[in-house]
Amino acid sequence: MSRKLYIKTFGCQMNEYDSSRMADLLENTHGFISTDDPNEADMVMLNTCSVRDKAQQKVYSQLGRWNSLKASKPDLIIAVGGCVASQEGEQILKRAPQVDIVFGPQTLHRLPEMLDQCIDQKKSRVDISFPEIEKFDCLPPARVDGPKAFVSIMEGCSKYCTFCVVPYTRGTEFSRPFDDVITEIVELAEQGVREVTLLGQNVNGYRGIQHDGGIMEFSQLLYYVASVEGIDRVRYTTSHPIEVSDDLVTAHLAIPELVAQLHLPVQSGSDRILKKMKRGYTSTEYIAWIDKFREAYTNLSISSDFIIGFPGETEEDFKQTMDLIEYVRFDQSFSFIYSPRPGTPAAEFEDTVPIQEKKIRLMTLQNRINEFALEYSKNMVGTNQRLLVEGYARKFPQQLTGRTENNRVVNFDGPSSLIGRFVDVIITEALPNSLRGRIEPEYVQYIN
Ligand code: SAM
Ligand code: F3S
Repeated sequence: MSRKLYIKTFGCQMNEYDSSRMADLLENTHGFISTDDPNEADMVMLNTCSVRDKAQQKVYSQLGRWNSLKASKPDLIIAVGGCVASQEGEQILKRAPQVDIVFGPQTLHRLPEMLDQCIDQKKSRVDISFPEIEKFDCLPPARVDGPKAFVSIMEGCSKYCTFCVVPYTRGTEFSRPFDDVITEIVELAEQGVREVTLLGQNVNGYRGIQHDGGIMEFSQLLYYVASVEGIDRVRYTTSHPIEVSDDLVTAHLAIPELVAQLHLPVQSGSDRILKKMKRGYTSTEYIAWIDKFREAYTNLSISSDFIIGFPGETEEDFKQTMDLIEYVRFDQSFSFIYSPRPGTPAAEFEDTVPIQEKKIRLMTLQNRINEFALEYSKNMVGTNQRLLVEGYARKFPQQLTGRTENNRVVNFDGPSSLIGRFVDVIITEALPNSLRGRIEPEYVQYIN
């Protein structure tokens, strides 16, 4: 009987991607099948994130819960990976001796070897080093699950924003070689993938080595990715304002496969705060890029990340963030209250803003962006939108569901033969979290 693997993932899309690669790897090497139930697993794994919140605490309380699991099943293997593992290292074994394996984001490819050693020698293993590109060389080809896939094009970050722990936990920024990225995408397309999302902390800072020794920039990479046979939609996330270039603006205009969407984290609209964050741009420079994109591409949907209540953020600083939001009219945001990260410079800054005030600011910001989002959704009613059909709708399983270029979920009636394909849908209704649509009957006949 095959062994079962349960993975609990905290955090961002990078972590989701890493978890799926770990599952592929352990299926390849040890025949592990994924399960959603930790009680029936032979190996349980935590893929941790330490960007916000009480990350360490969450990890240790989850490990505490798995203690009883191990007591009833002594052969159970417990592994902890990701950014908290990278920060805590050996400390995890001291506080949670039931753990067998501790590995970092850059050593997940060594899991099979660590697992064997741990079983043979009946000893815990820790490896949180940063061996850079070796990780990708050692992973099996990506396994496809549906018409969409993520492709990691770079790892780590060397920007050292004062609030952020990523450079310390994921290591310095490095780009995967161009040939490796393209080969992975071609293999995905051969298995039926129609949409890829290029992943990295600052994808637009991509500088991948080519086989002739030349360096491929991000905007050039986009042309190559879009030209892969079968790939009809390309997304990327996240990009950094200081790595935006005129070539990237041009790429958005020139590449039809590239979605009309840009996620460009600004964090704050106050130059004083941006400086304290060490972001490397002013709000005026940020707006200048947005204007350039919008001039070239009027329909572009723009989303961003915000940190609210950064140490010393005054009413005036927050007002400047709201002014920027009014100007750009963002379509979506990932916005959070600042969370001090041990070991980062900002954790030492004096923070005088009361938490209640921070919560009010966050709500004000989110409410305004939600209003913009609903307005954009309402303006889509009556328009024709191209969707990539992903499967059956979650709430209405008799309906199909897909996403528009600007990443909105649309539910509609249609034959299951459309799953995995692009269809054109007329938007009939805008709801707060999704849209409803309809396909013309003649159109279904045409595509069948
Ligand atoms: N590279 C991206 C950029 O240009 O900013 C961001 C990557 S970061 C891992 C993802 C997001 O987490 C950031 O944009 C920021 O908004 C948020 N974040 C990071 N550190 C944080 C902290 N200490 N407190 C609150 N949010 C934080
Ligand atoms: Fe973090 Fe700033 Fe890099 S937010 S991931 S240090 S660009």
